[in-house]
Amino acid sequence: MLYEKILDISKRRGIVYPSFEIYGGVSGFYDYGPVGKRIKQDIEDIIREYYVIGENCFEVECPVLSPESVWIASGHVKNFSDVLTECSKCGEPYRADHLIEEHTKTSCAGLNSDELYKLIEKNKIRCPKCNGGLEMTYPYNLMFQTYVGAGKDKITAYLRPETAQMTYLPFRRLYEIGRKHLPLGVLQIGHSFRNEISPRQGMIRLREFNQAEIQFFVDPDNKKSANFDKVSEIRAKILTKNNEEFEISLGEAVEKNIIKIQMIAYFLGISLRLFEDIGINKNLLKLRQHKDDERAFYSTDTWDIEFMSSIGRIELVGISDRTDYDLSAHMKLSRQNMMVNYNERNFVPHVIEIAYGIDRPIYCILESTYTEEKDRMYFKFPKRIAPYRIAVFPLVNKNNIPEKAIGIFETVKKNRIYAIYDDSGSIGKRYARADEIGIPECITVDYQSLEDSTVTIRDRDTKNQVRVKVEGILGRLI
Ligand code: GLY
Repeated sequence: MLYEKILDISKRRGIVYPSFEIYGGVSGFYDYGPVGKRIKQDIEDIIREYYVIGENCFEVECPVLSPESVWIASGHVKNFSDVLTECSKCGEPYRADHLIEEHTKTSCAGLNSDELYKLIEKNKIRCPKCNGGLEMTYPYNLMFQTYVGAGKDKITAYLRPETAQMTYLPFRRLYEIGRKHLPLGVLQIGHSFRNEISPRQGMIRLREFNQAEIQFFVDPDNKKSANFDKVSEIRAKILTKNNEEFEISLGEAVEKNIIKIQMIAYFLGISLRLFEDIGINKNLLKLRQHKDDERAFYSTDTWDIEFMSSIGRIELVGISDRTDYDLSAHMKLSRQNMMVNYNERNFVPHVIEIAYGIDRPIYCILESTYTEEKDRMYFKFPKRIAPYRIAVFPLVNKNNIPEKAIGIFETVKKNRIYAIYDDSGSIGKRYARADEIGIPECITVDYQSLEDSTVTIRDRDTKNQVRVKVEGILGRLI
């Protein structure tokens, strides 16, 4: 299966692999290895280009740990839970909705703990592992709880389950820094944490995961985008909350009130473009509106972009209208004023949120770019996200060829281009290793290089080689 093949290469070649492996691992935690970390860094930089440069957003970085009051105000202490059931015989924990959905093949979205338990009884569902009976269901909060400080100073704290909340807290300060202008866009990239019940899907459902979330603070009477015409022609497959499915341009979707908030449509378009840029197969993307009983408690309208992968649909981004829910909640509990006076009106700004995962898109890039030919496999990464732009090989390890190759390698790196040097094994093996991590081009220094200062450059996708002057290499790479 494609999923297994990709995870196998990922482990062998240092893209991603399970964390704490020497102690048996813990589900829901993955390391980015040397190759994966490079790819992740590039993706984060592209998101920065799209939002900090393209959309004039600020970028902030806040703590991952925060006091309980933040999460009481936000509603996460009360509402951020999944329903848990355990086997009364072997103790295996299950997320009740997933277990029932696997068994009945129907959605359990929006059902509460009692309703889920009734379905377990009605369908006579038993523990898939040992066939034992299942215990009464109950809501299980997904936040990791801990403490900060000691003695009388000790307070309860949580690891953040989303970056968003941390971006809301300093809203007043950010608004002043942004010279009191709306919309005000703020990006935050970083780790978030959810103590998922029994995650079984490798890097698709992580307990510690990477997010890039953008909060646009807007005038509640103006949820439009000045640049909508730049995306209005983009066509997309759409699945509405009423289960209607069709292909339509974003412009038409807004005109026909299918996507009610123009700003949401705009960022769906921007995200489609971004996903295509980082190598995700656009033909496998779908815009899906959340059903009323499925939306997060803070949102009035949410649209996801999903990727139809070999293991089912994977959510890559969620775009939500969070209204004034969060700012008003923090205003109430902290007693700090979150209102603005804008265009001669007083109001609490609304928030349009664009919440990207980073880990899932990386898996979807791996699926989209994985290519098998009869004698090799490679990832067809776009040059921008390839872990290294170039590999440099000396044909042999003698006769001044390594010196010349190292000279080229150093020059490339001095120009801030990520490169690797590989001098072990046959050239064929070195090409194969470079292909497996999707390096777009390989430079080989050979005997002719010593005579006329030329090298061969071999293209990953076509395997074609061209001979170029050493002085011309940088021009090709930058
Ligand atoms: N901030 C939205 C999410 O984490 O899904």
